[in-house]
Formats: sequence, C-alpha cells, structure tokens
Amino acid sequence: MKVSNFFPLSIFQDQIKLNNEEKINLINDIREMKKNSQNSDYKLNQASWTGDTQGYEYIYNNPNFNNLFVEIKKKIEIYLDFLKIDKEQIETFIQRSWATISVGNEVISKHQHLQSHLSFSYYLKKSTNDSNFIIYDDEKKNEFIPGLFGSKTLIQKKLIKEITFPTATRISLEVKEDDILIFPSKTPHSTDQIETNSERISISGDVIFLAKNTSLMEHLIPNFKNWKKL
Ligand SMILES: [Fe+2]
Repeated sequence: MKVSNFFPLSIFQDQIKLNNEEKINLINDIREMKKNSQNSDYKLNQASWTGDTQGYEYIYNNPNFNNLFVEIKKKIEIYLDFLKIDKEQIETFIQRSWATISVGNEVISKHQHLQSHLSFSYYLKKSTNDSNFIIYDDEKKNEFIPGLFGSKTLIQKKLIKEITFPTATRISLEVKEDDILIFPSKTPHSTDQIETNSERISISGDVIFLAKNTSLMEHLIPNFKNWKKL
C-alpha cells in the first residue's frame, strides 16, 4: 500500500541564543511592561498577559531588543529561502511585535494574525512544564464526511478509533527556551491549556512583505512609497 500526503503546512523552528545578561535585561523590561499595563481586563478570563493589548505593541522600538530583531530577520530570510522566494523582489517590514507572559493556567486562545503575512514566536523564557504551541487545521482536507473530525458525539462513540497524522486537526508542537517559530500568519494557533506555567515569556511579531517593483505584477502589496493618502 502507498499513501501520499500532499500540501503541507511548514512551520520553521530554530534557535536564537542570546547571552544571559541580554536575556535578563529583556525579561526585566517585559516584566516592567506588565507592571505598567494599560488594560487590566485580561485577568478576568485566565488569559495570558499580551503586550499588544496593553500599549506595548511596538517592542522593536526599544533599543534593548535591537540585537534580537537582527537575529529574527536572519531566520525569516532562511524561511523565505526554504520556500524558494526571491528575496530581491520583496521588502520585509515588521508591523507589530509584543511580549506575552503566561503564569499558572493562563492561556492564549486560538487565533490568527490576519493583518500580516508571516508571524513568529520567540521563547525568551520557557521551562519544560510551560505550555507548548498548538496549531489547528481548519481546512481538514481529509474530512470526507462533514463534521467527521470535530463532532463531540462521534468522538464519544469512538467512530474514529484513533486520531493519526492524516486525521489530526490539532497538533502540539514542543518548544524550548531560545526557540523561534515562523509560520504563515493565517495559521490558527494557541497555547496549551495547562496549569503549570511558571512564567513563560514569548515575543510575538507580525511581518509583511511589499513588492519592490510592481510593474507587470498583480498580486503583491505595492510598496507604500507609491501610496497616496486620500
Ligand atoms: Fe499569535
């Protein structure tokens, strides 16, 4: 028997090794942002602290993070190379970047970053008991009967005897401290729903690609240098 699996989702995973002193400085900066939060509502529903909703969505403007973003840019370039994208024809911009802190059972619920192209998550502080990265497949290409993979009653009846790679609609990707993940921003993702986060700190960011030259080109976003405010 032969089964071929086609059309993958490719999540890039690599490491960025900052020295300890730099890491401690960044961690302290982020703890300070949390102390100065501008929106305390996040505490109501066991949500993680996320800097983008607290007035800290442009973390790259803090010079202490300069070196980290130099390293992140290198990783984005590797991912573009993996996908055989001609980097010479595009310009890369970071739109937003923010820290997240999860303690205890705090969780970042399933979401997408639909206003950007690629997103990343860098794990500045993470122990093995802290939550991992969950990816969801809403497209469910192998779901040949509608509702087959998501139905509670079918799960209870064990109609699917075992969830395997071709039928999984949710994957937990193990991440370690210093890891960086890069993924298409449209990918639905969340953190694990666990109780054991000590103080998990990650830095997320959204990247967008503009065409350098839109002549004879239809589909990329034209460079904003050519835009005109109406
Ligand atoms: Fe996210």
